[in-house]
Amino acid sequence: MSGLCLIFLGPPGVGKGTQAGLLAQRRGIPHISTGDMFRRAIRERTPMGEKARPYVESGGYVPDDIVNGIVAERLAEPDCGPGFILDGFPRTIGQAQALDEILAGQGRRLDAAVYVEVPDAVILRRLTGRRQCTQCGAVYHVEFDPPSQEGVCDRCGSPLIQRDDDNDETVRRRLEVYHQQTAPLVEHYAARGLLVRIDGDAPVDEVARRIDDALAAVGRS
Ligand code: AP5
Repeated sequence: MSGLCLIFLGPPGVGKGTQAGLLAQRRGIPHISTGDMFRRAIRERTPMGEKARPYVESGGYVPDDIVNGIVAERLAEPDCGPGFILDGFPRTIGQAQALDEILAGQGRRLDAAVYVEVPDAVILRRLTGRRQCTQCGAVYHVEFDPPSQEGVCDRCGSPLIQRDDDNDETVRRRLEVYHQQTAPLVEHYAARGLLVRIDGDAPVDEVARRIDDALAAVGRS
C-alpha cells in the first residue's frame, strides 16, 4: 500500500476533527477519528465500547493495547490504500511506536504530523459551544458554525447534542492528560522532521488554507 499518511495532533477542541474531516474530503481519503470510533461503540454498547466507556467519560485515555488494536484493524481496510488521516491517534509515545510498526508492516511510513495550536481561552470557547449530530457525527458550534435550524443537523436532520465529555470538569481533566501524555509527541515528531505546525486561531476556511499551504511547502501535497 502507499498514499498519503497523515496524523493530526493537538489539544482537545483545537479543531483537529473539523480540519481533518475537510482535508480528507479534499483529498478523497478516509478521516479516522479514534474518539468518534469510541463514541459510536459506546452508543451501540459493543464489548469494545463497554471497555472504553469509563475512560472516555472521565476524560482519561483508553489503554494503548485497545486503541492500537482498533487502529491496526482500521488501517488494514481497503479504503486506506490511497492514504488516510488519523485524528486523535497517536496520543502516547507507545501509540506512536505502534503506528510505526503497523505502517512498516504495510510497507509505508508516516508523511507528516499536523499540529494545530490555539490559545487555551479559545479552546474553552470552542468546546463549550460545540454541538454534534447524534447520527452522522457532523460537528457545529453555536456561535462560529451554527446549523440553519437550532438543534437540528443540516446534513441529516437528526438532533444535535452537547458531548458528555464537554462539561467543565471533564474538559479540565482532558487538558491535563493531554499535557502529560500527548504534548511530548510534538517534540517526538519535530525531532524526526515530520512536524507541521499550524496556527489554528483563525476562521475554519483560513485554517484549511494554511494546512494546504504548509503541506505543499514541505513537498507533501
Ligand atoms: P476525541 O474525540 O479525539 O477528543 P479530543 O482530542 O478531546 O478532541 P475534540 O474532539 O474534543 O476536539 P477537536 O480538536 O477535534 O475539535 P473540533 O474540530 O471538534 O477523544 C475523546 C476521548 O476518546 C478522549 O478523551 C479519550 O478518552 C478517548 N480517545 C480518543 N482517542 C484516543 C487515543 N488515541 N488513545 C486513548 N484514548 C483515546 O472543534 C471544536 C469546536 O470548535 C467545534 O464546535 C467546531 O465547530 C469549532 N471550531 C473548529 N475550528 C474552528 C475555527 N477555526 N474557528 C471557530 N470554531 C472552530
